[in-house]
Amino acid sequence: MRRGLPGVLMGVVMAVALSGCIGPEQTVAKGDLDKNQGTTAVAAHPEYVFTYAENQAEDYPTTQGAYKFAELISQKTNGRILINVQAGGVLGDEKSVCEQLQFGGIDFMRMSLSPLAEFVPKLNVLQLPYLYRDADHMWQVLDGAIGKDFMNSFEGSNLVPLSWYDAGARNFYNSVRPIRKLEDMKGLKIRVQESEMMIGMVEALGASPSPMSYAEVYSALQTGAINGAENNWPSYESTSHYEVAKYYTIDEHNRVPELQLCSQPTWDKLSMADQEIIKECALESAEYERRLWSEREKESEEKVRQAGCQIIELPPGEKQKFQDAVKPMYEKYCSDYMDIVDAIIDTGK
Ligand code: GCU
Repeated sequence: MRRGLPGVLMGVVMAVALSGCIGPEQTVAKGDLDKNQGTTAVAAHPEYVFTYAENQAEDYPTTQGAYKFAELISQKTNGRILINVQAGGVLGDEKSVCEQLQFGGIDFMRMSLSPLAEFVPKLNVLQLPYLYRDADHMWQVLDGAIGKDFMNSFEGSNLVPLSWYDAGARNFYNSVRPIRKLEDMKGLKIRVQESEMMIGMVEALGASPSPMSYAEVYSALQTGAINGAENNWPSYESTSHYEVAKYYTIDEHNRVPELQLCSQPTWDKLSMADQEIIKECALESAEYERRLWSEREKESEEKVRQAGCQIIELPPGEKQKFQDAVKPMYEKYCSDYMDIVDAIIDTGK
């Protein structure tokens, strides 16, 4: 998934990452930036050129959402603000990119809530295992008052949340055996995201958690350093994990939504009018991403089924055992927020 940056673009990224804006005498590698800006004319001297980090491949729904975001901002500011999307994880893993956002080294990113909750712990509430009945339930929560309240919970983090992106439901997969019941989890070494709560989840299910960044998972599966991992259909497919871990069990243990984020130091440089434009474009790009997401989920599922992966549906009785095993996590990781957990469970009932 990692790709080298063209030298000229790397120069732009470095210059811009340091300053966040460019002076009148500096030039932008316009040809390189154009691919992010759709058909919009790019101003000769943009006021800002910002960097946006994305760890998924070019054709992935979240990356396409990032390009849409960049295109909309360029359109609405007549090329005065440009967003330079860097996909494929070239700027680093989510945790280190997030740290860079905090001091303004990178301006924007899209991030999974699991590692993000290490920076804003309250976010663990939104990804508790088996919290949502289905996708509609989750969107009622995120698009409603609870989601807004979470958006206002970033004080002191040096991060500004912009909009929710979809990442579907996550399922376990491995290279050893089909997981048909809870006991099948026992002894498996399962990669988890770099998150205390996800480590706790895999332990609660009887397996052995191995936290590592997304980019490391393929080779760890291939060499047998881990037996399996867990992720949504598009990630399982686009990373080719399905080629090295062919048993995929649909247990939907959690839905981990994602956020587009802006660096607080970057945000503080902008006028209120520009902040409004950025928020609007983030929301519009999120609608776009969610549409692409539901299409891609089906395509990815189809592709891995065609490739001969063994897909296992957990029978309801077995799923209940998974749910019972993780139930103590609610108090363990979210004891300060049990009122919100209850409000989420009651949403839409
Ligand atoms: C999903 C998510 C990524 C994340 C990955 C992971 O694919 O979109 O942002 O890095 O899960 O499991 O680490």
